Amino acid sequence: MTFLEIAKKRYSVRSYNEKKVEPEKVEKIIEAAHVAPSAANLQPVHLIVVQEKEGLEKISKAGDIYNAPLAVIVCADHEKAWIRAFDHKQSGDIDAAIVTDHMMLEAADLGLGSVWIGYFKPDILAEAFHLPENLEPISILAIGYTDKEPADPERHVKTRIPVAELVSCESYKKQ
Ligand SMILES: Cc1cc2nc3c(=O)[nH]c(=O)nc-3n(C[C@H](O)[C@H](O)[C@H](O)COP(=O)(O)O)c2cc1C
Repeated sequence: MTFLEIAKKRYSVRSYNEKKVEPEKVEKIIEAAHVAPSAANLQPVHLIVVQEKEGLEKISKAGDIYNAPLAVIVCADHEKAWIRAFDHKQSGDIDAAIVTDHMMLEAADLGLGSVWIGYFKPDILAEAFHLPENLEPISILAIGYTDKEPADPERHVKTRIPVAELVSCESYKKQ
C-alpha cells in the first residue's frame, strides 16, 4: 500500500473486540514512534504503553478509550522540549502529536484500528501513572481490532473541508 492509501484507509475506531495486539505489532508501533522527527531532535516525548487490565481501567477513569486492549499515553517532556528563543514558543505538544500520528498510521498499516483521544483528564492520568511534573500527557492512542465494517477510504470528499479551503497558493486568500 502507498502512504496515501494507508492515510485514507485509517479512520477512528470506537469499538474494539477483545483480541490482544500481537507483541511484534506493538514493537512496530513503538518503532514508528521512535523514528518520528522532533524539533532540534530533542525527542521530548515519553510513552507509557498500557495493556494490563488494571492500567486500562485507570486510563478509562480519565477518558473513554472504547475498551481498547492497548493504549499508549503520549507525554510531552517540558524540560526537554525545544523553545523558540525569540517568542518562547515550545514544541513539546507538536513533537508529541507527531509521535502519536506516526503510531496511528503504523497501526493502520498493520491492519489495526486506533483512535486518538484528546478528551481526557490529565490530572487523573498524572496521578494514576505517577507522572513527574515535567511530563504532560498530550494524547492517548487507543489501539486494537474491530469487528465493525471499515470506513470508506474515499469518505474524505464528504468529511473534510474542500482542498481549496485548506490551501492558499503563494499568499493567504480569505475564503
Ligand atoms: C487532537 C485530536 C483529538 C481527538 N480526540 C478524540 C477524543 O477524545 N475522542 C474521540 O472519540 N475521538 C477523538 N479524536 C478523533 C477525531 O474525532 C477524528 O479523527 C475525526 O473526527 C476525523 O475522523 P477519522 O479519524 O475517522 O478520519 C481526536 C482526534 C485528534 C486529532
